[in-house]
Amino acid sequence: MQKKTLSDIAIQGKRVLMRVDFNVPLDGEKNVTDDKRIIEALPSIRKVLEQGGRLILMSHLGRPKGKPNADFSLAPAATRLSELLDCPVAMAGDCIGTEVMQQVLALQDGEVIMLENLRFHPEEEANDPDFARELASLGEIYVNDAFGTAHRAHASTEGITRYMQIAVAGFLIEKELKYLGKALQDPERPFVAILGGSKISGKIDVLENLFNKVDAVLVGGAMVFTFFKAQGLPIGNSLVEDDKLELARNLIEQAAQKNIRLLLPVDVIVAPEISATAESRAVSIDAIQDGMIGVDIGPETKAIYRREILDAHTILWNGPMGVFEIDKFAEGTIAIAGAMAEATASGATTIIGGGDSAAAVAKAGLAEQMTHISTGGGASLEFLEGKELPGIAALND
Ligand code: 3PG
Repeated sequence: MQKKTLSDIAIQGKRVLMRVDFNVPLDGEKNVTDDKRIIEALPSIRKVLEQGGRLILMSHLGRPKGKPNADFSLAPAATRLSELLDCPVAMAGDCIGTEVMQQVLALQDGEVIMLENLRFHPEEEANDPDFARELASLGEIYVNDAFGTAHRAHASTEGITRYMQIAVAGFLIEKELKYLGKALQDPERPFVAILGGSKISGKIDVLENLFNKVDAVLVGGAMVFTFFKAQGLPIGNSLVEDDKLELARNLIEQAAQKNIRLLLPVDVIVAPEISATAESRAVSIDAIQDGMIGVDIGPETKAIYRREILDAHTILWNGPMGVFEIDKFAEGTIAIAGAMAEATASGATTIIGGGDSAAAVAKAGLAEQMTHISTGGGASLEFLEGKELPGIAALND
């Protein structure tokens, strides 16, 4: 990696200001329902504490729109972190101000404090220089380990680096770049990408970037209906982007020119409505009747995609194959997760590009059987599009 990391600096006795992404889901009782992002930050957190640093953690949670709001407090994340570390984690009432500064200056070596939600201040997302400078004044060393927020040029991820001499990457960012970066730069072949989701428009840049790297792309999710309509196939009432038909034809042509095998489903599951009680059945893609909606990939497609996955040495997956939030339409997505688990077991590198696909793998109970599950939804998508992530670009080379 081109960036300095936590391994390159002296930590003992220093105030280490670390940006983490503790934007975690909470239930009605304010319990963290998925602590993956907290767990993945533990190596960096432990490193600072074990080396006698004084750790100040900062994060956002949700989108509180620039105002304090108890529903978006980071206190539940601090509680979960304290359980995982088995040590106290103090919770500050804000992320800037005199009181916070006093609490920070009172920290002893090996102690940790969590600042309150950065997004309670509109200046965070506006990347306001004064706010960034005030945050910076809390620490002597800045560490960014918030991969999930690295695509945002906010005060705590980008602006702050202008006011800190030492600004390095944490171990989670290092790990994310290792897996996602290797897949894009030097993958073991065959390299297969699986792309799902509802809209081509959200995935054009990823597709075009991947066309320069992969051997095959397996497509699923509602975006397939835009491809089908573009080829003159019937799609019933399935979701379609009518203004992207030309683009879909273009992508098919581009794939052919670049010798990329672009695989679309050969059969799909259809239902008259998207509901758990709707009757559904598998049909060939040239037999989708009027009024029917495509909700998942079909059994033949599952089998074809599984074989492709098992023949590959690197597999990268982003986006579900169908409406996986409804159990009966989750089978295609779960089957992909299963095939990827098989591939991992036989030595392939399997990478999940965050967001919905990470949720699907967790739903299938197969999270432990993937080589790497990214903690970034939007961030991993932008990385796969080939874009520079401002939160990483701003760190010391
Ligand atoms: C995420 O969950 O993708 C990150 O925490 C970024 O959150 P945001 O999309 O609200 O900026």
